[in-house]
Amino acid sequence: MTIDDTDDGDPGTDEYSDHDGHNGDHGGHEANERARFPTETPAVVTCGLPYANGDLHVGHLRTYIGGDTFARALRKLGQSVAFVSGSDMHGTPIAVNAWREGVSPEEFALRHHERYQETFPRFDVAFDNYGHTRTETNVELTQEFVRTLDEEGYVYDEAIEVAWDPEEGQALPDRYVEGTCPYCGAHARGDECDEGCGRHLEPGEIEAPTSVITGNPAEYRTRNHKFFRLSEFQEYLGEFIDRLEGTDNARNQPREWIEGELKDWCITRDLDWGISYPGEEELILYVWVDAPIEYVASTKEYAESADSADSTGADADAEPFDWERAWQAEGELVHVIGRDIIQHHAVFWPAMLRGVGYNEPRAVLASGFVNLDGRAFSTSRNRAVWTDDYLEEGFDADLYRYYVISGAGFQQDTDFSWDRFAERVNSELVGTLGNFVYRSLLFAHRTYEGTPEAELSADVRERIERAIEEFEESVNDYSVRAIGRAPVELAGFGNEYIQQAEPWKLVDEEPERAAQVIRDCVQLVKAVCVLGAPVMPGMAETLWTQLGESGSVHDVPLDAALDAPPETFDAPTELFERIEDDRVTELNEQLQARIEEAAAEEETDTTGAGSDPESTESGDGEPAEAEAVADPGLEPIASDRIGFEEFQDLDLRVGRVERAQGIEGSDELVRLEVDIGVETRQIVAGIKQLHDVDSLPGSKVVIVANMERAELFGVESNGMVLAAGEEADLLTTHGNALPGTTVR
Ligand code: 2FM
Ligand code: ZN
Repeated sequence: MTIDDTDDGDPGTDEYSDHDGHNGDHGGHEANERARFPTETPAVVTCGLPYANGDLHVGHLRTYIGGDTFARALRKLGQSVAFVSGSDMHGTPIAVNAWREGVSPEEFALRHHERYQETFPRFDVAFDNYGHTRTETNVELTQEFVRTLDEEGYVYDEAIEVAWDPEEGQALPDRYVEGTCPYCGAHARGDECDEGCGRHLEPGEIEAPTSVITGNPAEYRTRNHKFFRLSEFQEYLGEFIDRLEGTDNARNQPREWIEGELKDWCITRDLDWGISYPGEEELILYVWVDAPIEYVASTKEYAESADSADSTGADADAEPFDWERAWQAEGELVHVIGRDIIQHHAVFWPAMLRGVGYNEPRAVLASGFVNLDGRAFSTSRNRAVWTDDYLEEGFDADLYRYYVISGAGFQQDTDFSWDRFAERVNSELVGTLGNFVYRSLLFAHRTYEGTPEAELSADVRERIERAIEEFEESVNDYSVRAIGRAPVELAGFGNEYIQQAEPWKLVDEEPERAAQVIRDCVQLVKAVCVLGAPVMPGMAETLWTQLGESGSVHDVPLDAALDAPPETFDAPTELFERIEDDRVTELNEQLQARIEEAAAEEETDTTGAGSDPESTESGDGEPAEAEAVADPGLEPIASDRIGFEEFQDLDLRVGRVERAQGIEGSDELVRLEVDIGVETRQIVAGIKQLHDVDSLPGSKVVIVANMERAELFGVESNGMVLAAGEEADLLTTHGNALPGTTVR
């Protein structure tokens, strides 16, 4: 069975992987293109720092598994790589949650940091260094960065109005306030519009702020703060974004911010948790200053550790990793993040790096969120598959790694469900990869005690060479999904090959031909093992041993896929186990019971004040705090009643989508041509990531026909398509209503 047959109902996902990367079919090559990987220069792959403030669920892991897979794939190409991250210990995400728990921010953050440190390796996310933002290295580097920015004239003082809680007598920075986003009107928390347009909000910008401590409307007080002259970097950032590689969302979304009014950035807060502004003890740096600097600090710590001498894994005598060269002279900086923090990595961070004379990021890979059964994960409602639970159920890390990496393009949102998980494990890993490997090695062992003596056939050699080339292309295209699919695609070829050749029928009649086929199959198994090492490190290591190879598959380069396999090996064991239907039922029931229990607890908790503040979640790979997808928990019914006449002001019509096309440069928007009987309307809808655009034509929809015209991304929208909830479930009719029919 081919992979496409078993894909996740996410039609067109084959194309998605191409959309991920800069050099995919769409992006083309830029004039000032960088050298292809592997480069002579060192690379640093970083993963967005998780706030140390909550338990990890499997949705959070997407970014980290993506970063790990990409870093391992780079190493397979022979690239020298440092793969680093750390916990984000500062800022109000920690301070507010620690306050709610009644413990110090230090104790609170360290506890979570230690948990993350244990969890990542259990999913084979093998950081070369996993630090945190309070280490001496980071504190020193942060102060050095800020001192340099100051000396270079990029920082100035300004008195601003900040939110203030009069009852508590304290300032209310960032997440200490909630209110309304001034840009899109959505409910917003502190410094980010996490349920609406996703913008960073400067102090004082949030409208109708209320204190999260007392629930009272916030007042304002004048305070002195430090500002970074971001506006001076406008021209530079405009050029930088043209050079930036990575996923399309990270390369395109920032244009709007960069080309618009680029406001200077307030880099200090009235808070007693964080790193002080150098020389001004009472001013604390905004968490988004010291967090990305930890990427540098973590690389430095790695370079100074004993491990770094062997950064490619291939050469034990190699020099220690040169962190200064990588960051300050000629390095390939690749940031892997969740899609909610693109602005920080493609605007603020490159400007800071430029300000201190460091290298600029080469690529930003921004992952989509993971939903659970079509809805956002919710830690507060226990609607999550926790990392511990997943492992305690006895599932191997490789299964989830493969599932989350290969199911959808990296920048697309994706879904986890136990049903889909079992389906894909059973068909792609058990049915395709496991089946091919096991039947080939078993036959080889029983008949020849290992690899038969025969030359590799030209066809199979070519097929493996093609797989290697495609793998190299995928790395250079930043197509994490294609890297993940490579081993199963090759195993699919192998299965068809062995099935057609039927070597078991040839052993007696045509022994040479039989030996040739099995020789080919063992080579294919070895290639599957090498290509599969980045996405399924555990499986690959086991298979390497089964093949009778010595050392580690993680130390061999990609070309080892074509090296002759050992002459002898033992009988293999099966790599994967089927997940039976009753197991899936049981897992679903457990999840449901947990959700219901949490809902019941929430209902009996009438105090409100002490309840968990986290009512919304993202599954973006960032623990608890990076919550950009609102949980669709029902909104209260509007209290203002309207009359029938007011309702009649809305001209709602049935429409039929004639054409649908993603708007270039926009991550969300689709241009629709909708037949509404009397005419065909052009309507722009923000549904790109939530629907398969190609399958929209023919769908019946309901539109607001007398909506004011608007222009989105330079495209006129003449009407509005109605949709429900976070998933933009399109409203339709279920009878024969023709286009143009009025909806009442
Ligand atoms: O949004 C977040 O979860 C932040 N803790 C990410 C920081 S990434 C970086 F820049 F350090
Ligand atoms: Zn907004």
